[in-house]
Amino acid sequence: MIEFSGLRRTKMPLNNGSGQMPALGFGTLIPEPALTIAATRDAVAAGFRHFDCAERYRNEREVGEALQAELASGQVARKDIFVTTKLWNTNHRPERVEPAFEASLKRLGLDYLDLYLIHTPFAFQPGDEHDPRDQDGHVIYDKGVTLLDTWKAMENLVDRGRCRAIGLSDITLEGLLPIYESARIKPAVVQVESHPYLPETKLLEFCKTNGVVLLAFAPLGHGMRPGLLEDPVISAIGARIGKTPAQVLLAWAVQRGTAVLTTAKTAARAQENFDISTLPEDAFDEINCIETRQRLNAVVQTGVPGFIPQAG
Ligand SMILES: NC(=O)c1ccc[n+]([C@@H]2O[C@H](COP(=O)([O-])OP(=O)(O)OC[C@H]3O[C@@H](n4cnc5c(N)ncnc54)[C@H](OP(=O)(O)O)[C@@H]3O)[C@@H](O)[C@H]2O)c1
Repeated sequence: MIEFSGLRRTKMPLNNGSGQMPALGFGTLIPEPALTIAATRDAVAAGFRHFDCAERYRNEREVGEALQAELASGQVARKDIFVTTKLWNTNHRPERVEPAFEASLKRLGLDYLDLYLIHTPFAFQPGDEHDPRDQDGHVIYDKGVTLLDTWKAMENLVDRGRCRAIGLSDITLEGLLPIYESARIKPAVVQVESHPYLPETKLLEFCKTNGVVLLAFAPLGHGMRPGLLEDPVISAIGARIGKTPAQVLLAWAVQRGTAVLTTAKTAARAQENFDISTLPEDAFDEINCIETRQRLNAVVQTGVPGFIPQAG
């Protein structure tokens, strides 16, 4: 059962009994190191307890520094925060999974992770270069490893108590099914782009039926304008109920039974994004009736570009 205690404090149970994930999560895909530290601390102060990181974002050290400071201050306890990071495409070979995991953990300064995700289902040439390309600029994929091989190495991390749950990211329902069926430890979470223009209804139905948490990224359409934040339905609902478009979009996401990641670079926006409350039923239904369809990220088809922070 999903535990609601005010929409912003919604918690989603994980299917392996390892605990609950706060539905409202803070994403750390932030380009500059100093901003990463400040934004992460502001997010904790605003009330966020779920932090989404990735080896690929190249800022686990800064996120870790901010979280360590909050833990040391006694404001929050480790058991009260939920930390995720992700295995990058160049580390899909089973023998690379544990070293990659341990390196992330060390950068974050933690001794276990709540959730470890395979960042994309696409294996790239193994090595230290995150973005291996041939002389024509094409990504060099690794044909010598299957997603199931990588998944089994992820399962070993759970067996060894290094992380509490594992999952996948940037995966389609078609890609998820064979892993779900073969897995000894079922994926607990799938992280995908989702918002009113990309509701991922079939994937969400599958997840709900099987106790998998769908964790939506780009709930605000990456903040792009024109875009979701200026959608007339969303704006009108916001004006009607006294909430901002961002708050309407985040509330919709949690109310429909997904967890959600948003990124805010200022304390004011972190507070705004945490201050969500349940939408009236008619407003919720109006959003479900939006017909615009738009996918903002092609990564689900190719593993590229794979989300590197763009400074400036
Ligand atoms: N698995 C994947 O492949 C993947 C891909 C992308 C993201 N993610 C994760 O998802 C997280 C969320 O990022 P996202 O881009 O998907 O989230 P998003 O919430 O859709 O967009 C974030 C952008 O919206 C703007 N924004 C935030 N709060 C706002 C508000 N209250 N009003 C107006 N604009 C606001 C900010 O722009 P400003 O920069 O102007 O502040 C921010 O950069 C990332 O940090 C990362 O952890 C995962």
